[in-house]
Amino acid sequence: MTDVRNAPMLEVTNLTKRFGGLVAVKNLSFSIRPGEILGLIGPNGSGKSTAMKSIIGVERPSAGSVKLDGEELAGLPSHRIARKGVGLVFQHSRPLARQTVLENIKVALLPDKLTRVFADKDVDGKARAIAGRVGLSGVLDRKPPTLAFADLRRLELAKAIARHPKLVLVDEPFAGLTASEVADFSDLIREFRDEGCAVLLVDHNVKSVSALVDRVLAMYLGEWIAEGTAAEVMQNETVRRVYLGGALVSTARPESSFSDKSPALQVENVGVTYGKALALQDVSLHVHEGEFVSLVGLNGAGKTTLFNAISGLVPHTGEIKWAGAPLRGGTPAQIARSGIVQCPETRELFGDMNVRENLDLGGNALDDKERTERLEWMFDLFPILKARQTQLSRTLSGGEQQMLAIARALMMKPKLLILDEPTLGLAPVILETLSKALDRLRETSDITVLLGEQNVTFALPHADRVYVLDHAKIVWEGPPDRFEAEAAEHYL
Ligand SMILES: Nc1ncnc2c1ncn2[C@@H]1O[C@H](COP(=O)(O)OP(=O)(O)OP(=O)(O)O)[C@@H](O)[C@H]1O
Ligand SMILES: [Mg+2]
Repeated sequence: MTDVRNAPMLEVTNLTKRFGGLVAVKNLSFSIRPGEILGLIGPNGSGKSTAMKSIIGVERPSAGSVKLDGEELAGLPSHRIARKGVGLVFQHSRPLARQTVLENIKVALLPDKLTRVFADKDVDGKARAIAGRVGLSGVLDRKPPTLAFADLRRLELAKAIARHPKLVLVDEPFAGLTASEVADFSDLIREFRDEGCAVLLVDHNVKSVSALVDRVLAMYLGEWIAEGTAAEVMQNETVRRVYLGGALVSTARPESSFSDKSPALQVENVGVTYGKALALQDVSLHVHEGEFVSLVGLNGAGKTTLFNAISGLVPHTGEIKWAGAPLRGGTPAQIARSGIVQCPETRELFGDMNVRENLDLGGNALDDKERTERLEWMFDLFPILKARQTQLSRTLSGGEQQMLAIARALMMKPKLLILDEPTLGLAPVILETLSKALDRLRETSDITVLLGEQNVTFALPHADRVYVLDHAKIVWEGPPDRFEAEAAEHYL
């Protein structure tokens, strides 16, 4: 007799998904037992999200079988698959914006047959209990658009818990979260496992994935390449080469090497308020021409607000000067034309335009020769963009979209490049590529970079100087080698 406890809950066999000529997932087979967390890793575009979407029926598998407790799911529509007990925690949350947090959880608790709503008098109590479990008790009456980033993620988890799934698929839960938030989320995901759920987890935060999962499966170009314990898979030669890459090398230059020039960007006593909320208070910082400055701060600290103030997108008090002249009064377009280019964390790609069209828009102020050269350089940097020139940008994988957003900003030939959380969703090996590209850029051109990150493993190696922004204020400034001793408590 087979031991039911060890029988797989999810059994995927030869799963294949094609998009036209592209095989995004190819003959993928794996299984997950109840009470087990399987981590799925692989470079950007390797097919992880597509595999998940094919399991839950958001994408229809081209071939292969997906069995849940022995029952075939492949080919069923996604709402029927969800009803059989499969929950997906999306990276990009889509809550009902006009309902409160509590109401959103209640909606998720509703059974499919409305008649049963009236039978269950305790929907309210249950919703509150779930909110308490994920840490949303303090914001029950708020509407999702007013929530902090991590709370939106918590709401997604709460909705998944409310639906009481047997199999939970979680796509990039840690992206954009701080170290302590990642720890909270790991605990919540562990609770699914402890209740006997099967969990499939995708994330590029290799350290946190390794600490959480029971097993890891690595994919590359749509195919299975390795499987085993986290330690085994991370040692695998191919995984190291195509996914992990090497360590980032620090290259800080002392500020004194820039001090002969007056700072290119001067932010002086800048304040921003949204209604009554203080988003920035008395913020001062400066960036020399050619310097690479990292602004480190947790979610909600005010990084994006500062970048938007510099780009002329939000009104501010105080003064911002660029090459000695005040920026105040300039429209965002004028400010961009003066050489300040922001690559926003929300990417802002034109989804219905293809890769090449997005890049050409970025380069539209360049003459033909320069645009062609720049484009070649960009394709050299991100070969995947060259291969996908005619693909609509909204169908790119998460990491591919991030590469396109960065490439488009670089096409504009910025004098000051503002990068807002560029590492979000990028595989370690791509961070290495980006890292080398930024180094090459600053060696070969006079580009000045202001980088906003909470991922200090990326922000520190590149920076000549670091500022820490905490609750709307600058609380620390110094060279990266002093960061660990003096400012790291919330970040490492
Ligand atoms: N609708 C589509 N049409 C064409 N190509 C697509 C479509 N959806 C996905 N792809 C391609 O399939 C490949 C796999 O994408 P997928 O989103 O599964 O990658 P991923 O492993 O999740 O990557 P990431 O880590 O960047 O999120 C990518 O190269 C992507 O561009
Ligand atoms: Mg993905």
